[in-house]
Amino acid sequence: MPASASLSMPYPAYAEYPSAPGISAVQTDGGTVSVRWEDGLESRYHAIFLRDHAPDPDTFNFETREHSREADSYPAGLKVSQAAITEAGALRLTFAPEGLNATFHSGWLRANDYSNRVTQDPAAIAPTPWRGETLSEIPTFEGANILTDEAALSDWLVAIAEYGLGRLRNVSTQDGTVLKVARRIGPVRTSNFGEIFDVKAKVSPDSNAYTGLALFPHTDLCTREYEPGLQFLHCIENSVPGGNALYIDALAVAHDIRNEEPETFEALTALPWSFSNRAKDTDYRWRTPIIVLGPDGEVAEIRLTGFLRSPPDLPFDDVPRAYAAMQALCTRLRDPKYALSFAYAPGDLVCFDNRRILHGREAFDPGGGSRWLQGCYSEREELLSRIRVLARGK
Ligand SMILES: [Fe+2]
Repeated sequence: MPASASLSMPYPAYAEYPSAPGISAVQTDGGTVSVRWEDGLESRYHAIFLRDHAPDPDTFNFETREHSREADSYPAGLKVSQAAITEAGALRLTFAPEGLNATFHSGWLRANDYSNRVTQDPAAIAPTPWRGETLSEIPTFEGANILTDEAALSDWLVAIAEYGLGRLRNVSTQDGTVLKVARRIGPVRTSNFGEIFDVKAKVSPDSNAYTGLALFPHTDLCTREYEPGLQFLHCIENSVPGGNALYIDALAVAHDIRNEEPETFEALTALPWSFSNRAKDTDYRWRTPIIVLGPDGEVAEIRLTGFLRSPPDLPFDDVPRAYAAMQALCTRLRDPKYALSFAYAPGDLVCFDNRRILHGREAFDPGGGSRWLQGCYSEREELLSRIRVLARGK
């Protein structure tokens, strides 16, 4: 059967869908359409779904590749009245009572087979929770050519999606490089600390980060409604004794708490803590559970900047339970089995999911040498978007 890839469609939008396996048979009962594929798989689709995604100029804006109608705009009694395979191997459907004819690309149908829960989203990368005791080294990639090397960029980003973090080595130590690297992924997110922030001991610091103090594992900016999804830290100078980096996968920690201390897990997901970040001209506050669950009940994010915790805004009788859960979490975070620890070398650039990976550091003596990290923020959706765009060229 001829390939259907040459069909003119408003979608796939920029992606190339394969024409194999082809459609070997189709049937409809009006409310649903069943497609049998040449490899034996059977896929089913509802008439309303197919009508809503019909490659039709009154349904889609072909130029913008966006819907031009809302989901309630189809007539009552909608059904598929005819279904056939075209000469080119596409699926031709007629919708009643409109009488609309629409031709669907076989590859698009296969890629959107929700009856078998198939997804061909290259950014749908399942996270692999890890503990420092089992992950011997942070996922590490050569970064000398990261500003031009798309394959290296893709490998690094996929690791960040899977493990929550990845390190580039041998990145230029020029001031501002972190911004150039972050923008290879997408727009950066600015904050009151600037578009870019310098992590070094400062006079009159407005954050513990800008001292030589140890930093307990934390996420950044949990004082905001929406925590940054990505954080970048680029080592420009490091000759001080101490100051080793610490990274912990909160997915693994939350998994263990859920299994071993269900009451602690319940308190961490249900009782909101208050966090605040005050400076001369800013006053950020947010109230949030420490572990936030997604609609599927799985851990969606962790929000813990312990050194920014404020007096609790909780019912009186919940305060001891909230503290007990926080203490249990902190005790667990001190367990060395969870942490990856290493010394930053000049040219290291780590990107991590700031809503999944806790980061911290050991104390260092600011007078013992120089230590200069430069950082910035971006978002999870920029990572996922870039992974998809890079996958188009493969
Ligand atoms: Fe931080």
